[in-house]
Amino acid sequence: MLQQQAMDVMISNWSNVETVPESYTFPADRRPNEQASTAPFFKDLPVLDLESSLSDDANGTIQTILEACQELGCFQVINHGVSEALMDDTLSVFKEFFSLPAKYKASFFSNDPDKACRLYSSTLNYDKEEHHYWRDNFTHRCHPLEDYIHLWPQKPTRYREVVGRYSVEVRKLLMRILGLISEGLGIEDGYFEGELSKTQLISVNHHIPCPDPSLTLGMPEHCDPNLITALHQCDVLGLQVLKDGQWLGVEPLPHAFLVIPGLQLRVISNERLTSPKHRVVTHKEKARTTIGTFLIPSHEVLIEPAKALVKGSSHSTGPPVYRAFTYRDFFGAFTGKSCDAESALGCFKL
Ligand code: OGA
Ligand code: NI
Repeated sequence: MLQQQAMDVMISNWSNVETVPESYTFPADRRPNEQASTAPFFKDLPVLDLESSLSDDANGTIQTILEACQELGCFQVINHGVSEALMDDTLSVFKEFFSLPAKYKASFFSNDPDKACRLYSSTLNYDKEEHHYWRDNFTHRCHPLEDYIHLWPQKPTRYREVVGRYSVEVRKLLMRILGLISEGLGIEDGYFEGELSKTQLISVNHHIPCPDPSLTLGMPEHCDPNLITALHQCDVLGLQVLKDGQWLGVEPLPHAFLVIPGLQLRVISNERLTSPKHRVVTHKEKARTTIGTFLIPSHEVLIEPAKALVKGSSHSTGPPVYRAFTYRDFFGAFTGKSCDAESALGCFKL
């Protein structure tokens, strides 16, 4: 996309938006029936205090995590070891980033999924899609830090320092949670280390206020295709999770992370864990910025139901539901099936 075009499509460059442009207006059957202001809240979403509950009752905490990942698909963590000051600083760095001059941001604009750092609007398919989503997104790799940090923005000036520390800390937290999940499932310690969690992406969504949220979506409904996600929301409502056929709003809890198991956890756990469908709706008055940290398998690693969980083992969940596949093949199927989780997983079912 040409630089001028890139500057025009990014919603963070728009000002005084009074009406929703036609290309952002979804047809009636795809509009959000529940908006941020009307959707009921997700009231049973567990909030785990990692500090006190782990020291009081480690087994109970692990069981709560497993139950949350089995039934609801996600849970929140507090007292998780990432400092509040670092969370606040990182969020403000990203808010500042999105308010930088259009010309600077355009230098990162790309729809190439292989680009180390990419800023885009709506989806990577902007040029072909019929309706655009009301968001800008900035994504880049983070791990190992020394391989990528030199490719990151130099504005705001503290970007590399703050986002670097944040990525290291959130990775530690997610690895800790994966350790608890493997313990709870009964698969070997360290199972998720190495290739299965090798790639780390930070993916920041930014949505400006939308004059009519009933017409638009900030992000399509989807399941995260990765291994696991830690979502850090700002204080503006927008995220909704599908539970029993109903869209429920996830109320942002200050300094919490929402942990969302990805589709690879569903496969590795042989369907014991689920991966929730979620989407983002827009907000009438406020801009919303959220930071997703994704752990993703390397392209070549083989993914399959853990041996310890298939028939014949002590923690058996039954016969394997999936054959082994590489993450590259999975991701190809996922994008080839318009990011529909069930159809993509269906390609690998036994
Ligand atoms: C995602 C996602 C939700 C949000 O990036 O996969 O679901 O609230 N984000 O931004
Ligand atoms: Ni998601």
